[in-house]
Amino acid sequence: MSNRKVQEALNNFDLRLMARDRLPKWMFEFVDRGTEDEVALRNNRAAFERIKLKTQVLVDVSERKLDIELFGNKHKLPIGIAPTGPAGMLWYKGELELARAAKAAGIPFTLATGSQTSMEEVARVVGGTLWFQLYMWSDVKMSHTLVERAKNAGFEALVVTVDGPVNTNREYNTRNGYTVPFSYNRRNTAAVLARPGWFFQVLMRYWLTTGMPRRENYPTDMKERLTHVSAAERKTKNDSLSWQDLQVLREMWPGKLLVKGVLTAKDAELAIANGADGVIVSNHGGRNFDSSMAPIEALPAIVDAVGHKTTVIVDSGFRRGSDVVKALAIGAKLVMVGRTTLWGTTVGGQAGAARAIQFYKEEISRTMAYLGCNHVSELSRDCLEYVAQSHEPIAL
Ligand SMILES: Cc1cc2nc3c(=O)[nH]c(=O)nc-3n(C[C@H](O)[C@H](O)[C@H](O)COP(=O)(O)O)c2cc1C
Repeated sequence: MSNRKVQEALNNFDLRLMARDRLPKWMFEFVDRGTEDEVALRNNRAAFERIKLKTQVLVDVSERKLDIELFGNKHKLPIGIAPTGPAGMLWYKGELELARAAKAAGIPFTLATGSQTSMEEVARVVGGTLWFQLYMWSDVKMSHTLVERAKNAGFEALVVTVDGPVNTNREYNTRNGYTVPFSYNRRNTAAVLARPGWFFQVLMRYWLTTGMPRRENYPTDMKERLTHVSAAERKTKNDSLSWQDLQVLREMWPGKLLVKGVLTAKDAELAIANGADGVIVSNHGGRNFDSSMAPIEALPAIVDAVGHKTTVIVDSGFRRGSDVVKALAIGAKLVMVGRTTLWGTTVGGQAGAARAIQFYKEEISRTMAYLGCNHVSELSRDCLEYVAQSHEPIAL
């Protein structure tokens, strides 16, 4: 799609609809949907609607600034790109496009373990503030090789995702015929044929250059094409991990260590006690555990418990600048975004991802003007009209 098309979008929801028109159904739903009954996915959004912001009038807000400092580095906006596996399936080498958009916007970019572009290539070709997301496989030593590589490639932070001890239950993937390993069947092939633009500009381009996309960060013996699955890959989930594994990573990793997927104050405390420099409060965008709390609802207790001694970051469901402002007002230092920039990448590569980021920028700035606020550091819980609980506690 053209750059002009990207400019037609007026918000991130428009980019979502454009992405839906561009991708085969199984690919779009893999990005878009949640898990099981999608209660967590819906609640991630609904939770924002229960939080209201206090306006302030007749304050000179003509000097609004959105920059932040994180781990000693300056960033132009209080958002970062969350790790997501399939950017390279949405646009040819989509990870490079996303990383370029992040660098141009002056925000951190996180590369996922399962991405289709290697960490070395992203570091070499794009640079910027780069974080690497690590999944700990059942062969933990194999995961440690990724840590060494990320260190050698100069990544600033290691983001260890801990919210998937077992495979999640995304039934729509099965219904759509989207399985790992991927195999062509009548349903998913028909969906591809219905999206010739994606077929020629993404899939065909891989076929004509490097062949079917692969998970390029995987060690060589795991690096099968996405249509195959190696014995090793079947062991990508590890249900025996414990805080000791984090301690080992702490010893190996000299940079910033972030634990992603924390939803309680107790786990946040444990993460810090076991060596983390920060936590990412996340329910994986509602993709993993359908009975999980919305991160924005879990955030106040976590900030209260560890916010004074560590960096609290949050993600899941952030679509509008006002959502970001709410999290910052509660006490998060950074908000990470996943699907919005993927939709943008789908529609226009770097330009599309940049458009998604631009929406946040404009909307954060506009929200701050209504709050009588000139800098994001002025945001506090005084800006919140109220934080309504989603439900009365149930007597047990
Ligand atoms: C398609 C997709 C793939 C994802 N892959 C990963 C991943 O490989 N590792 C990870 O830690 N999180 C992954 N996530 C979760 C994101 O990092 C992030 O937590 C989530 O997208 C935030 O919610 P949002 O999409 O509503 O912004 C993925 C999310 C999506 C949408």
